[in-house]
Amino acid sequence: MTKRFFFPAGVALLLAACSTVQSPQDRLTVNDQKIDAIIAQMTLEEKVEMLHSKTNMSSAGVERLGIADMHYADGPFGIREEGQPNGFMSAGWTLDSATYFPTGSALAATWSKEMAYLYGTGMGTEARLRGKDVILGPAVNIQRLPVGGRTYEYLSEDPILSAALALEYTKGVQDKGTAVCIKHFAVNNQETNRGSVDAQLDERTLREIYLKPFERAVIEGGAMSVMPAYNKVNGDYCSENEHLLNEILRGEWGFKGFTVSDWGGTHSTMGAMLHGLNVQMTGSNYLGQPVIDSIATGALTEALVDEKVRQILRVRFAIEAVPEDVANTKMTSQPECQDIAKKVAERSIVLLKNEGMLPIAKEVKKIAVIGQNAVLKTQSGGMGAGVKALYEVTPLEGIRKRAGADVEVTYAPGYKNFPGRRWGPAPAEPNPLEAAAIDEPADPALLTEAVALAKDADLVIFFGGTNKSIETEGSDRQNIDLPTGQNEVVAALHEANPKLVTVLISGGPTDLRQLEPVSPAIVQGWWNGTEGGTALAEVLFGDIAPSGKLPFTFPARLEDSPAYAMGNFPDPNGAGGDLFSLMFRPDVLKMSPEERQKFIDSLPKPVSKYTERFYVGYRWFDTKDVKPMYAFGHGLSYVEFEYDDLKAVVGKDAVKISFKLENEGSMPADEVVQLYVHRIDSKVEWPAKELKAFQHVSLAAGETKVVNLEIPLKDLRYWNETTNAWDLEHGKLQLLLGSASDDIRETAEVTI
Ligand code: GLC
Repeated sequence: MTKRFFFPAGVALLLAACSTVQSPQDRLTVNDQKIDAIIAQMTLEEKVEMLHSKTNMSSAGVERLGIADMHYADGPFGIREEGQPNGFMSAGWTLDSATYFPTGSALAATWSKEMAYLYGTGMGTEARLRGKDVILGPAVNIQRLPVGGRTYEYLSEDPILSAALALEYTKGVQDKGTAVCIKHFAVNNQETNRGSVDAQLDERTLREIYLKPFERAVIEGGAMSVMPAYNKVNGDYCSENEHLLNEILRGEWGFKGFTVSDWGGTHSTMGAMLHGLNVQMTGSNYLGQPVIDSIATGALTEALVDEKVRQILRVRFAIEAVPEDVANTKMTSQPECQDIAKKVAERSIVLLKNEGMLPIAKEVKKIAVIGQNAVLKTQSGGMGAGVKALYEVTPLEGIRKRAGADVEVTYAPGYKNFPGRRWGPAPAEPNPLEAAAIDEPADPALLTEAVALAKDADLVIFFGGTNKSIETEGSDRQNIDLPTGQNEVVAALHEANPKLVTVLISGGPTDLRQLEPVSPAIVQGWWNGTEGGTALAEVLFGDIAPSGKLPFTFPARLEDSPAYAMGNFPDPNGAGGDLFSLMFRPDVLKMSPEERQKFIDSLPKPVSKYTERFYVGYRWFDTKDVKPMYAFGHGLSYVEFEYDDLKAVVGKDAVKISFKLENEGSMPADEVVQLYVHRIDSKVEWPAKELKAFQHVSLAAGETKVVNLEIPLKDLRYWNETTNAWDLEHGKLQLLLGSASDDIRETAEVTI
């Protein structure tokens, strides 16, 4: 049995506590002396072995010195099932069924730092049971495009909301003794040509919008590892981007951990070694033998290798290696984590519209549930983030369980489901409930069946939305239309029975212009995890009041959103040939590294220009005065909240506000209060308003609370591109306090 040389995390933390180091990042350096002593014993080959993959989800330790391998686990919202050593194919285990947490956009819709922290503890707990050291998450890129394939995986269109939740998720995971690998650093906002697209943007936009979630998680949360994105930023691949990895991440933010490339996202030996990459995932054609050869020629130094190994070992020493005879000996999904998933799901559900339909009245004794999204499971799919869940309560199951024996719940599929890109041979018999095309019109037989059920019910609940083949890593949607004739179906249902509620099961926004007029109530139900159906039923039946708020804008039309309105997306030059998809083509894989590099260099160079700058999401809609279908931060409750008595003072380091919030209803309810800032007579260009603080507040029926919020002055700075530094513009601010970005209840003016 190899003597394991690991540093019990508790001892490391104890050391940290009594050491003088301050920042979460500096805590990673408490073992540097021990680490240097180990490096001194290592051969060059042993060091270089640590700089690339050992298996598809591990990188090497040093067996001879008892340094354990580093084990990674996918999934920002569930510890992914065990794969084969050489790829993603399932290993066919049984104890690796995990808790499926609500996906990123659902977590963001809670606007709850407490939920994000709990969520992280759940992920960290289950990672340890699987013997994993690093979770490849959270995924925190800004949702720039409503069609973005990974909108469901990411958090919000707003950097302040995204950063606050990324920070808490990071703290939760790492407090459970697992490291995060926050991703994808940075400006990864589209799947189209994701492996080669060059995101071109100005420094102020980069700093104020796209880096903000990473900045807080690294500096304040002590994120121990970072995954550079596939794309380029201003000309350089993220995995070898001096500005991002060395100047900002390490130089300015003081990052002391290590970077691990996205899978297939390493592009050279010298670039990666000189500009900030520690570990190539997967393969060793860049950070394997070529590193040793480059040292032999003098192109690289062993001291540089030592620095990279030191950064990896800092995390290795901070994270206790789970002994092989302990890992995977219990079922991964744990009851306390299932409960966390349920709590998050309950707070994520957004009531977009309600004309007297919800909560479901006691008199309702027959409910017709229409739509395959009521029964389709959402745990898997969407590529890297899929979860093999121990169980998943679907909406229909949740409704039936909650309705009980004295309410009849009927079901019809209503429309065909579009299964997306087929990964294998077509089945012998086509599935009658699957559509051949995403924009296929409604199926007459399914429509007739659904309308008949609707006519005969006290209430119709229509389940629309998308699925994880339509919204997925690897491709963006072509539009945000509801698929497979759903608009036609919901109109026919409403015609048959106007007592209709629509529930949207999707990760990103959808075009509701046709659906909204024929839906007296609309709920955004998300891909809401293992207990999603349970939580949805609790809201629909009024056991709890909905408190979710949109983490991104629902545009009325896709063309209204900034990147489309500015002609920045799709790529007007239509440059195809995405490196990522091509590099795994069989003939390309057979090429020698030199041939392959020549082939890659010959490909078109797609570009994504961010000329909308920091006007992303509501910053655009509000500044350009374009009305969305539903605004950022929108979400109704079953009660009304009264905001009163706003007071604001400017302190030394922060603007502090207090106000009274009353639950005027007859049931307990949560409200997410939001504080925006508008600049008055500013000399610097700003969006019309920007979110600067928020809080999830719980109130008993009739209860009034004094709520305190504060905006650190540092959060009011802008990136001054003249001085190339953060700068605070002094002057008047208008504080906008409300229940949504378009529902401001109280204002105040202060001068900073
Ligand atoms: C994927 C994803 C990344 C994931 C990794 C490993 O391509 O971009 O998020 O963690 O590869 O599956």
